[in-house]
Amino acid sequence: MAEQLWKGRFSKAVDSRVNDFNSSIRFDQRMIAQDMKGSGVHAAMLARQGIISEADCEAILGGLASIADDLASGALEIDPAAEDVHTFVEQTLTARIGDAGKRLHTGRSRNDQVALDIRLTLRDESVRLQGLIADLVRVICKKAGENTASVMPGYTHLQRAQPVTFGHALMAYAWMLLRDLGRFVDATRRMDSQCPLGSGALAGTTYPLDRAFTAEKLGFDAPCPNSMDGVSDRDFCIELAAAISTCMMHLSRLSEEIILWCSWEFKFVELDDAFTTGSSIMPQKKNPDVTELIRGKTGRVYGDLNTLLVMMKGLPLAYNKDMQEDKEAIFDAVDTLSLCLTTITPMLDTMRTLPANMRRAAAAGFINATDCADYLTKKGMPFRDAYKLTGQMVADCIASGKVLEELTLDQFQGYSPLFGQDVYQAIDLVNCCEGRTSYGGPSAASVKGQIAQALDALDAWEKGAKA
Ligand code: ARG
Repeated sequence: MAEQLWKGRFSKAVDSRVNDFNSSIRFDQRMIAQDMKGSGVHAAMLARQGIISEADCEAILGGLASIADDLASGALEIDPAAEDVHTFVEQTLTARIGDAGKRLHTGRSRNDQVALDIRLTLRDESVRLQGLIADLVRVICKKAGENTASVMPGYTHLQRAQPVTFGHALMAYAWMLLRDLGRFVDATRRMDSQCPLGSGALAGTTYPLDRAFTAEKLGFDAPCPNSMDGVSDRDFCIELAAAISTCMMHLSRLSEEIILWCSWEFKFVELDDAFTTGSSIMPQKKNPDVTELIRGKTGRVYGDLNTLLVMMKGLPLAYNKDMQEDKEAIFDAVDTLSLCLTTITPMLDTMRTLPANMRRAAAAGFINATDCADYLTKKGMPFRDAYKLTGQMVADCIASGKVLEELTLDQFQGYSPLFGQDVYQAIDLVNCCEGRTSYGGPSAASVKGQIAQALDALDAWEKGAKA
């Protein structure tokens, strides 16, 4: 069993149950690369400042490199009995290089170390998640481009409302996801701005550290200006969890939509067999499990965000052990979103759209009633009167089992002499959709414009990500 770091102060070994309870190695080992990176930069800074010798620094850097190599080759395994990843690295290093390893922790605490490690880890995870969101946006744009003429009912209150196209509805999700991308970029920018390393346990140190050097070498803009804030800030976890939660909310809405669309009641889409599951008893079933799981997992991610918010709300300065709980919550949120994105993107890509069924639904719900009222309004009738008259016409049509476009011209003119032959054009579903050329509307030209705009936004994000 690994030895406790603080052994000198205690007369007894810690109870094994406390050890297990206290240990975070199970979930903080995923930060080992970041932990070693921080240690290397810290050692280099200590040597530059004359706090440790060049020889010790070289031994530390060599030792860290050998640990990294052995972990990669499998020659070294992470000891599950170590208290945490920081202890494991330091003890392994000391076992390999002796006293130089014991000098690494000069002017440093696990408190500033862990605050640094989480930042470095989440920075990488955020960049990875951004790439996955961008992939999904690209697939949405592709599908939308194939469906700029697929007229379907747009809904309010889940009641057929006005004609839109499937492409237009899909692009609504592209915009949500592009806002998500922006939230990840913002959160990451703040995560990258201030480096906690050198805050010490909470009160800095008497060693002449060069915090600007370590901050710069680790990719931060500057060291954080207050050591107590430096070790106890977890805003960046909360901010990322909030961005993840919002993105999950969008995926959940899209999932709910797909669940409806692939039901027999709608049948606007057909999911690929590879992305659905069957039933153990009902031979006809093809269930949209993926989308249901995404909807379900959204609640769990909200739980992660809530865990972080509640964990922090009552903590006095500075580090408190409660904060060890941050990692399981934020890593679960990261992993869950990652899993959902990597599954929904190919599912959407392989989903077949059924425009004839969309069109049939569009034809049945009087979704051109507003266009009929607009027609009368354009002929001079005040909109309120046109609205009321069209309402009567709809009620009469429902009673006689017809839709507006099935009325004869005589019947139309029985309601108002303003109706002419051109009413049929005005309430034709495709024309209703194409006529909605207002900026942001569902006409094919507008949706194509949206797609170009969304792809431009992705290009701008990509350039920024590379910069
Ligand atoms: N495993 C700890 C955590 O994740 C590292 C910091 C330990 N600091 C301490 N004072 N016990 O928060």
